[in-house]
Amino acid sequence: MTLSGKKIIIGITGGIAAYKTCDLIRKLIKLNADVRAVITPAAKKFVTETTLRTLTRNSVYCEQFDVPEWKPEHISLADSADLFLIVPASANTIGKMANGICDNLLTSLIAAFNKPVILAPAMNCNMWENSFVQENIVKLEKAGFYIIPPESGELACGYEGTGRLADIGKILEKALEILSKEKFLQGKKIIITAGGTKEPIDPVRYIGNRSSGKMGIALADAAYSFGADVTLVSTIKVDKPYKIINLSTAMEMLETVKNEFSQVDALIMAAAVADFRVNSTSDHKIKKGEKENITLELVKNPDILKEISKIKRDNQVLVGFCAESQDLIENAKKKIGSKNLDFIIANDISDKEIGFNSDYNAVTIIDKFMNEIKIDKTLKKELAKIILKEIFK
Ligand SMILES: Cc1cc2nc3c(=O)[nH]c(=O)nc-3n(C[C@H](O)[C@H](O)[C@H](O)COP(=O)(O)O)c2cc1C
Repeated sequence: MTLSGKKIIIGITGGIAAYKTCDLIRKLIKLNADVRAVITPAAKKFVTETTLRTLTRNSVYCEQFDVPEWKPEHISLADSADLFLIVPASANTIGKMANGICDNLLTSLIAAFNKPVILAPAMNCNMWENSFVQENIVKLEKAGFYIIPPESGELACGYEGTGRLADIGKILEKALEILSKEKFLQGKKIIITAGGTKEPIDPVRYIGNRSSGKMGIALADAAYSFGADVTLVSTIKVDKPYKIINLSTAMEMLETVKNEFSQVDALIMAAAVADFRVNSTSDHKIKKGEKENITLELVKNPDILKEISKIKRDNQVLVGFCAESQDLIENAKKKIGSKNLDFIIANDISDKEIGFNSDYNAVTIIDKFMNEIKIDKTLKKELAKIILKEIFK
């Protein structure tokens, strides 16, 4: 892999982990990237300009008002770079960025930068858990910044907890993923469904399931980062930089997906849709009264994938998920045929360590020719990328 022709800005803030950024710069230079270091005044206390100038083989930028050219540095640097990494990102700079404060070269540059930004926060564990810091991180993530969360372990300040800069290899991998883009879904429109449907019994009660929506949301995040025009149809409320349609029931999901489907290239049904709904829901809360039993009559919900397969064009991709506790592959393969799917992602829900509510999953991807790809226990965020690459390769 070479990064020849790629311009990368490395922002360094005032944190102990700044010395590790030198290693990242070396690795990027080895890949032939053009690297410019932009440091905050506080970062100078942790790493020298001489070191950075030597490693980047370029000038080091710090002073906002030291402007030899007619065009201020923060504008010309921002115009020319492909990627901006802030490693380490201090709580202070994160706070400024999340609130649009531009009081030094680094924060001004970020505000003027409209291409991908990776943030690798590093700080004391209590600082990281501080609710304002967390709010700022959520805000930045929502705005489309790539956050590589800190890891846990022994911290330089003597504490034990989460706050250590993520592994440099991981940060490099993310940078390469973005630069090599990995924008292979650019121009594609994709609908992804997520979460379990909630089938009302009365105004306060519903029949639901244990789906957390994590897999569908991870797929939507990954598809968005790969450049897709994403619509997430979800029963779970989340804030993301792409289009989200929130709803509750299977019938609402069917109607929404049907309305959107003709304009998209692919539908990935990761939601756990209830097979049945209550036949007649009560307009008022059902009172316990003297009743010992009540009976709910359930009626079958339409199968969304089956309905969509009736209107699917040949150039559209239909992907289903199936959660089974026994005969997983056999059952998944039957569904490919009966629902006219291009792919099915088979989840074994008998393993309590993975699947529902977990951050991990292990699946088998099966295509319409019955080829199988088994993926062992993996973080859902990573699994989402693997699934998308397999589907659209
Ligand atoms: C020895 C020392 C280590 C520090 N380490 C960190 C750190 O790891 N993360 C952090 O967010 N702040 C750290 N700080 C505090 C920041 O340096 C301080 O908030 C500063 O204002 C950050 O400025 P900047 O965001 O403009 O770089 C440290 C301070 C000192 C004195």
